[in-house]
Amino acid sequence: MADSKSVKMTDSAAKSGAAAGQAAVGEKTGAAAVQTAGAEKTGAVPTLEVKNLSISFGGLKAVDGFNVVIEKGQLYGLIGPNGAGKTTVFNLLTGVYKPDTGVILLDGKNITGKKTIEINQEGIARTFQNIRLFKDLSVLDNVKAGLHNHHKYSTLEGILRLPSFYKVEKEMNERAMELLSVFDLDKECDYKASNLPYGKQRKLEIARALATDPKLLLLDEPAAGMNPNETAELMETIRFVREKFDMTILLIEHDMKLVAGICERLTVLNFGQVLTQGETSEVLNDRRVITAYLGE
Ligand SMILES: Nc1ncnc2c1ncn2[C@@H]1O[C@H](COP(=O)(O)OP(=O)(O)O)[C@@H](O)[C@H]1O
Ligand SMILES: [Mg+2]
Repeated sequence: MADSKSVKMTDSAAKSGAAAGQAAVGEKTGAAAVQTAGAEKTGAVPTLEVKNLSISFGGLKAVDGFNVVIEKGQLYGLIGPNGAGKTTVFNLLTGVYKPDTGVILLDGKNITGKKTIEINQEGIARTFQNIRLFKDLSVLDNVKAGLHNHHKYSTLEGILRLPSFYKVEKEMNERAMELLSVFDLDKECDYKASNLPYGKQRKLEIARALATDPKLLLLDEPAAGMNPNETAELMETIRFVREKFDMTILLIEHDMKLVAGICERLTVLNFGQVLTQGETSEVLNDRRVITAYLGE
């Protein structure tokens, strides 16, 4: 048994000190103020600010001059017909693709062009349109994979199984179980991820994303393939995540009931361009939006 007295303070202690993150960013107000009225209300730096984001694939401008401002704590929807460029926006925000033009600011910090892993460490986590879990790993290990982005111990400590390794490992197990119980998945912690029913796999993917301790959570069509009951439960889960984790959420969704039910603001993409953006009820009643969806 490791003697607990010999366990020195590890860098997990340093990690917890980074929580406050109160930056005195006073100089940057211009673009945010132009974009939405929301930024002016608090005067705070938005969690996400995107300006003039574009990418082409061959001749196709998949995303063309995309802008958005998302305030801390907002539940924000990104909607639009199939092929409009929504998932591509997520791929740009998470560094899967590098934009041809544009700037991405997270809490005022320029993260444009960074690698996916770096962007995750800066604070953007996502789920995928087609669920991507480590199918052969346990439910618990899937969440721990997310935690690994933040808990660090040196490789040598890991190989030699030094006390700090055990301490971090124990903390990770506890934290992962905590997260699983929030999503009512703790009883299935030993299940293989692929053996969970579909709705629970979606939840597990959200839990894994949250394990990376993000500032901004991106959900790509979380209700896809769900029946109405599962969708209703998912809506509750998303609301709950926002409250419980004080999370800022950007959500791509086709289910208009879900969008109308939980999103405060919307941006509509059409052919890679922003068709309109604003408060949910206004946007959903906009003729141009209805036309874009009906394809008239
Ligand atoms: N890696 C890629 N290479 C070529 N074309 C792509 C690539 N990714 C997306 N596209 C194209 O960009 C457009 C937008 O796709 P996508 O962002 O997936 O749309 P949405 O998520 O709104 O349905 C589509 O025409 C799609 O075929
Ligand atoms: Mg998509």
